[in-house]
Formats: sequence, structure tokens, C-alpha cells
Amino acid sequence: MIAADISKLKELALSAAAQAASMDELESVRIEYMGRKGVIQDVMQSLKDCSPEDRPGMGKAANDLKKALQKKIDERRIIIETEVESIRDKSFDFTLPGQWHSLGSRHPISAITERITEIFHTLGFTVADGPDIEDTYHNFDALNTPVDHPSRDEQDTFYLDNGNLLRCHTSPVQVRYMESHSPPVRIIAPGRCYRRDTPDATHSANFHQVEGLYVDKNVSLADLKGTISYFARQLMGLKVKTRFRPHFFPFTEPSVEVDFTCHVCSGAGCRVCKNSGWIEIMGAGMVDPNVFTAVGYENVTGYAFGMGIERIAMIMHGIQDIRLLYENDVRFLRQFQ
Ligand code: DAH
Repeated sequence: MIAADISKLKELALSAAAQAASMDELESVRIEYMGRKGVIQDVMQSLKDCSPEDRPGMGKAANDLKKALQKKIDERRIIIETEVESIRDKSFDFTLPGQWHSLGSRHPISAITERITEIFHTLGFTVADGPDIEDTYHNFDALNTPVDHPSRDEQDTFYLDNGNLLRCHTSPVQVRYMESHSPPVRIIAPGRCYRRDTPDATHSANFHQVEGLYVDKNVSLADLKGTISYFARQLMGLKVKTRFRPHFFPFTEPSVEVDFTCHVCSGAGCRVCKNSGWIEIMGAGMVDPNVFTAVGYENVTGYAFGMGIERIAMIMHGIQDIRLLYENDVRFLRQFQ
């Protein structure tokens, strides 16, 4: 063997490595040339038969072949790997069914609260917030609630050891908002309320209300009626009628209870409305002057209202038992997608 043979061999080896189309083929080339019984090993063996003058040149050529081939194999390996990767990418079948994570559904209490918020938003009301743990001043005193009013009773309201309480309605948000803002006021306040009620089909110790408050110069009961009638139609459908019955609340004068025509029988009378054709939806009224005095408002009038979200959810979805709303049974909740 002469040096020219080795350079011929190098050409062959490099082109074999360059043409290897897979890792297996590349490995065969490596074994053929660089393996223990490979071509390069043969070349090395043959060095000892060379003339002493030729030996250094041949040795160098053989070493060059080895290095060049190793380099070529390393380069080719990277190319094959990236090509294989990209083929794997292209072979991904996008039509195969994937692993589907089912979406949850919005809780009816959240959905109705959002809907109510949306309706009042279109009328220019913004959302106000207040603490769940209240003091008696904001929950009762500032709302003109007499000291002997039954709602103050420990049997009805959850008191904490320090004399504070869990608010029994969202009305204290009215007081807090007026204390920190000057009129005009146009807010709704959705939130949790707490009462010492024994749970049954229509009572829960923890429930939700949306409070509303509108204060400006010359606000009248007609404004309240107009707004609530509009709200009723938006929430329950254009055919819904409203009825305002005289009532009493400490924080409004005059006070009313507002009924909507039953959405199940449209007023004809059915089981849901106990044959009356009407369903009681909220308490409302003109803000009592004593409440304005408590927050330092002068020369304004206003109306306020408060409604129970659970009640509205039960009526709208025909839910017979309030407790279903708190059990988080997905079979129940899934119905409200
Ligand atoms: N706070 C009352 C309740 O929980 C509901 C209510 C009635 C709110 C009249 C008001 C209102 O703002 O004006 O029963």
C-alpha cells in the first residue's frame, strides 16, 4: 500500500459517511473503517511492512484518514438527528383525538351576579365592595335600625367575640360608600351575607345579595320603579311585569317589596308562584333621611334596593332546594354551562 491508496481510501470513507441516510448506516460505516477489524486497522497493520522511508508519511496519512472520518461521522450524526426530528414533527397526526380536559361551568350564583352587574352597568352603576365582617354601626345603627330590632338578635345574626358581626345583608356597603364618596352615587354591591338560619330547602346560613343605591338631587320613587322595571325585563324577559307592595325597612321610607310576574306561568298561577302569579324578588325604597344624616349627606334624595341571588337563581332555573347550590356536585353544576 502506498500513500496514494490511503488518500483514495479517505475519499471513499468520507463519501460513505456523507451518504449514510440513518444512524444505523452511519454506524456500519464507522465499524467498516474504524472498527477493531476495520479498514484503518488493516492500514495500521500494513505499516510494519513499509519501507522505513515511507513509514512516517504513510503513518501520517493513516492518522489523517482516521481524524477526517471521525469528524465527518460526527457532522453527519448531527444532520441525521435533526432530519429525523423534523420528520417526526411532520409525521404528527393533527386529526388524532387529543386528551381533552373538560371545562368547568360557571356557578349559577356567579353567572346571575354577573348578569345583574351587566344590566346595571348599562345604566351607569359601578360595583362597590365592603367587608364581610362588619361592625354594628355599619350593619345596623347607621342604617336606622332600632336597638330592639329583631335582626340584631343573637339568634339571627352571627356575632364575633369582639362585638363585630358577619354582615346579615349587603346594605352596610351603602353606608361605607357614602362615607367615602360625595353624591351623586350610583352603585351596586354584590356580596356574601350571613344569618343564623337553620339550613332547609329555602334557607342557608350563608347566601348572596346584590345591593343597589342611587343618590342625587330630586331622585324619586318613580325613578326606582322605572329602573327596577327595566331591570326585570332585562333579567327575565320583555314580558315580565313588576309590582311594588308597601312594606317596611328601617333604612328606607317609604319602603316596598318588589314582585315580578312568575316567569314559569307568566302570571297565570302555578306551583312555583304558589298560584299567585307573582314572585317576590327584592326589598327597596327611598333612602331614609336618617341614613343620609349618618353619612353627612344633605339636600339629596335616593333609592336603594337589595335582592337575594339564590332566590333569583332558584326561580330562573327551577331549583327546588337551595342546598344544591353549595354542594358542588358536578352533575348539578354541569347543567348551567
Ligand atoms: N337589606 C334588606 C334585606 O336584607 C334588603 C333591602 C331592602 C335592601 C330595602 C335595601 C332596601 O337596600 O332599600 O332584607
